[in-house]
Parts: sequence; C-alpha cells; structure tokens
Amino acid sequence: MIYDLAIIGGGPAGYTAAELAGKNGLKTILFEKNNLGGICLNEGCIPTKTLLYSAKVYQTAKDATKYAISCENVTFDLPKIIARKTKIVRKLTAGIRAKMNEAGVETVMGEAGVQVQGTECKVQEIACNGQIYCASKLLLCTGSETIIPPIPGLKETDFWTSREALENKGVPESLLIIGGGVIGIEFASFFNTLGTQVIVVEMLDEILPGMDKELSALLRNELTKKGIEFHLSTKVVSVDNRQIEIEKAGEKNILEVSKILLSVGRKPVLTGFGLETLNPELFRNGLKVNEYMQTSHADVYACGDITGFSLLAHTAVREAEVAVGHILGKNEKMSYKAIPGVIYTNPEIASVGKTEEVLQTENVSYTVKQLPMAYSGRFVAENEQGNGVCKILEGEDGTILGVHILGNPASEIIVIAGIAIEKGLKAEELKAMIFPHPTVGEIIKEAL
Ligand code: NAI
Repeated sequence: MIYDLAIIGGGPAGYTAAELAGKNGLKTILFEKNNLGGICLNEGCIPTKTLLYSAKVYQTAKDATKYAISCENVTFDLPKIIARKTKIVRKLTAGIRAKMNEAGVETVMGEAGVQVQGTECKVQEIACNGQIYCASKLLLCTGSETIIPPIPGLKETDFWTSREALENKGVPESLLIIGGGVIGIEFASFFNTLGTQVIVVEMLDEILPGMDKELSALLRNELTKKGIEFHLSTKVVSVDNRQIEIEKAGEKNILEVSKILLSVGRKPVLTGFGLETLNPELFRNGLKVNEYMQTSHADVYACGDITGFSLLAHTAVREAEVAVGHILGKNEKMSYKAIPGVIYTNPEIASVGKTEEVLQTENVSYTVKQLPMAYSGRFVAENEQGNGVCKILEGEDGTILGVHILGNPASEIIVIAGIAIEKGLKAEELKAMIFPHPTVGEIIKEAL
C-alpha cells in the first residue's frame, strides 16, 4: 500500500498535520519513537505550565491576606505537584491518541528512518520496527533538542536540563541557571516561589533575548524583588561539580550552589532518521523550507522546530496546517508576521509583532503608546501589588507594528493584538472595537 502522507514525529507539528490530513481523506501514517505529543506535551509547554500554575496557587494562598482572605500555614508538596503534572500529561496524550483514531490516522510507535528513495517503494520510503512503508509525501517533524555547550567540567557534572528539572521531587536549596532565556526564566520563577535561592547567569546584557528589552528589564526587576539574583553580561567559564566559575568584563568569581540547570537554547534534530539519504538544503541550523513548508524536495515537507526558525509549538501547528493545506491543493502561505511569544512567569510577559529594537535596526519610524496596567480597572481589582505595562508600537500610517505586555494574564490578551497585526489593522480600527468591560484586555484599547 502507498500512503498519501507519512509523518515522522508526533509533536504539535506532526499530530496537527496527521489529524488534518486524516480528516481530509488522506491515507496518513504517523511515526513516533517516544510519546505522542512530543517535547511540548511531555517535557515542555504543558508540564512547565502545570508546575507554574501550582506555584501561582501557592503564591496566591500566601498573599491571600492582601485580598482579605486568611489562609494559614500554607505549604506545598512537590512530589504531588509532579504527580499532578504527570496525570495531566497522560490525560492530554490520551486525547491526542483518540484524535488520531478519530481521524483514521495509523500511528506507529517506533523509530522511523527515511530510506534511499525508490529501492522498494518508488516513492518516499520509510523503515520502522523492521517494516517498510511507502508514501507519496513525507512530512518531517522531528523537533529540537537541548544544546549542551562545551563548558569545561559540565559533562562531568550532574546538571539538570528542563527534562530533569520537571521530574525532580526535591526542592534544591540553591539553583544556578545557565541561560536567562525562556526556559531559564520560567524555571527561575518556579523554584523561586518554592523557596530555592535562584541565580541566573546570562551572557547577554538583558534576559529574554527577542522580547521587548524594556519589558524584560521590568520583569527582571520584579523577579529581583522576589529574591532572584541575576548576573548579566556574564559567562560561565567552567563548572566543577557545585562550583561555578563566572566571568564578567574580565573579572572572575566562583559561585557555589546545590544544583545547576542548563538552558542555553535548543537545536533542530537533523540526525538519526536518515535525513542524509534525502540530502536536503539547510538554512542556518535547520531544514530550509519554502512558504508552503516544502523542503528542497517538493514531496518532502518539514514543520516545527526542525526548521530552526521559531521553536514554538503554536508556530509548528500553523506550519502543519499550511503544509497539509498545500498537499490538499490549497495555496495558503505561511506567515510569520504575528507569532506571539509568551513567558509564563508570575507576572507573565507576552509579545507579538516587532520590538523597538527590531524596528530601529530596520530603520522603521514608529511611535510608542504605553500605559501602566493599572489603567485597567480589572487589573487593579485582581492585582494588589502587581506592576505591569502595555506598550504598543504604531507605524507612521497608524498600522500596529508590535504589542508588548507585562502583567497577568498577558498570555490570554496578546492574541487580540496578534489578530490586529496579522490583518494589518490600523490603531484606529482596533480602537473602534468593543472590548468587554471590565477586562484586562481593555488596556489595549486604553493604550491606543
Ligand atoms: P533561549 O534561546 O530562549 O535562551 C537561551 C539563553 O541562554 C539566551 O538568553 C542566551 O543568551 C543564553 N546563553 C547562551 N549560552 C550561554 C552561556 N554559555 N552562558 C550564559 N548564557 C548563555 O533558549 P531556552 O531558554 O533554552 O529555550 C529553548 C527554546 O524553547 C526557545 O527557543 C523557546 O522558544 C522554547 N520554549 C518556549 C517556551 C514558551 O514559549 N513559553 C517555554 C520554554 C521553551
């Protein structure tokens, strides 16, 4: 039998594509070597958000008196927090399995490898669990993996990546996080809430590269107030078990902690599944794709982290929709204009469109409309202490170019701005929309 579509990798890109293809009548087969749901569902987005939500509830209970509620002897149980996380992951994974069945997708659990084309199938040929599968089109969604930098002594040290941090059942007394990016800052927020002394070492001059720098600095200040220590423009020179040698502007120092978490980025997975037999073109550190998500081989598509472009689950989902749409004869192109970025710290930070830093590099004129979140009545009602900011960047013709929000629930509001940016709305057009009152989202209308 020849499948219409074979997909390698069952993460957000792979399972979205499989469901869509199956529901649209394509004979689809999906290969997954670990767990359906990929890193996002099993070791990334969902488990971290589960842990962060427990931390938020704990913090809210500790702060309850600010809202005239008494809550005494508030404690937490980390093994139970981890067990809840595992339960939620299992539930969602089962949901994906059910979706695959409903869509008529054949799911094969095993390590799949692309074979030299035409040997047996005359079309795309995939081997898995000792069997050969033939497919007219192939979609590669193998995701990404943690970067382990060549820091002297690191290999010999028992450090955590996000994977181990998510399974840990004890609260470390102190934790040094190498890399102040998304993963580093979310875990910093989590362990800080549980009482760990957290130190973040970031080689750039601000945390969260790619986010609005002013808001990143504001978030860093909020986290500093909560007790997190930041070392910016600082390199980790070497690691000797629990001793970490750092260097800033030529000055060296030794820090001693009980645990190290490494979060210096992720890289596309390009090996271990026979990619060399296809020998596709690469771009930067990922697979090169066109606007329909086709690689340099027209019958081979790639979506998600494997392209090394966005490394976000929601981008992967849209890429999968575009790829399957193309296979089905639609000619929708992938747009990267309005991809929201969210850091699920407490408070959250969310961003969509361009930052001031990018606009300045591109020599684009813009004006800034900025308001404290306290201009939203709902925000004030629900945040006794929280500071926050909503910043909107507007082009000369009134088009909304970027929106950046610090304050809860930024993650839920940002999509309003994303739609406006994707659709090229002018500030006046968005302002004319009716926002429900009272909501925190009204801050966008207020700022405009
Ligand atoms: P990242 O690229 O976000 O941040 C890595 C940070 O490490 C950067 O700030 C970089 O300057 C710094 N760094 C690199 N080498 C260093 C060194 N030797 N010493 C000190 N600092 C160093 O990568 P991260 O946090 O590992 O996340 C990986 C990917 O996972 C990201 O691309 C992100 O998009 C995705 N992710 C997204 C989440 C979300 O959307 N909320 C949550 C978690 C991960």
